[in-house]
Amino acid sequence: MSEKPAAERGGFLARPCAAGKRPGPLAVDIGGLMLKNPVMTASGTFGYGREYAGLFDLSSLGAVVVKGTTLKPRDGNRPPRVVETPSGMLNAIGLQNPGTEAFLATELPFLREQNVPVILNIAGMTVGEYEEIARRVDGAEGLSAIEVNISCPNTDAGGMTFGVSARLSEQVIAGVRRATSLPVIAKLSPNVTSITEIARACVNGGADAISLINTLVGIVIDLKKRRPVLGNVTGGLSGPAIRPVAVRMTWEVSSAVDVPVIGMGGISSAEDALEFIMAGATAVQVGSAMFADPLAPLEVIKGLERYVRDEGLASIREIVGAAKRK
Ligand SMILES: Cc1cc2nc3c(=O)[nH]c(=O)nc-3n(C[C@H](O)[C@H](O)[C@H](O)COP(=O)(O)O)c2cc1C
Repeated sequence: MSEKPAAERGGFLARPCAAGKRPGPLAVDIGGLMLKNPVMTASGTFGYGREYAGLFDLSSLGAVVVKGTTLKPRDGNRPPRVVETPSGMLNAIGLQNPGTEAFLATELPFLREQNVPVILNIAGMTVGEYEEIARRVDGAEGLSAIEVNISCPNTDAGGMTFGVSARLSEQVIAGVRRATSLPVIAKLSPNVTSITEIARACVNGGADAISLINTLVGIVIDLKKRRPVLGNVTGGLSGPAIRPVAVRMTWEVSSAVDVPVIGMGGISSAEDALEFIMAGATAVQVGSAMFADPLAPLEVIKGLERYVRDEGLASIREIVGAAKRK
């Protein structure tokens, strides 16, 4: 584990602090990670940024959250892997990714050049695997935080998803916490009975922030074939259809824990982002919306800038949780 404080490990953290610049009205602090604005990309909808770097300047973003990365490379599920649904989409990519070593050797050097905070989303099939990835990337130059996707099947427990059990969620986060000095963000699954119980367990395990929500499990049937459309049968629902559920969970979790919450689920505009912020989110992620409009995160940032100006706010932080105040 790197002993250096976060601000000395390079990457984005070192830059604004070293420059001594005053934070702007959209600046936020996510568990020690200072971002110039609260808008990030959501994991799995942005790859490692290469496709988007040709379309816009990635340094305009608050941070990029890259594809879910496992210890070893993975080919993912058999196709079809995505299908459109009313107001959303169902995906079963199956964590296709080049693995941790390729991330460090090829993707991180590219991202370092983009001058944007990089958050690595990690996925493991055992607690030890999560821990091992965190240990290998700890101290890597240009990496700002780790987001832990706990919506993964636990092969040690017969395939049960880590994120549906408070005990397993705490174990995963505690393992990652032990292995790294980077800020640790626990990314929660919405496919649970009590999201607040899982959030509390993750904070007990040492999470510096909570992000939510991952996709909701669903099935779409092809009537002609009389079969599920997706090769994997089930997939994860994302997009505007899940937004009210995500806003509700943001409200509940931000009331239950005292670490920052990052909200996502169907955000495509500043108005959508403001719903999450007023429900208690300190920052947001934009996911599926980028498939329709790759510039969607920039529109969200511009809209938030306009909102802060028009409302005469000194900081966006003034309205975090505003909808919950009596
Ligand atoms: C195609 C696709 C791939 C995804 N891959 C990942 C992943 O690797 N890791 C992860 O934590 N979440 C993954 N997600 C979930 C998103 O990061 C996000 O939590 C979810 O889609 C809700 O946000 P949205 O409605 O803005 O897309 C993926 C979502 C989509 C649509």
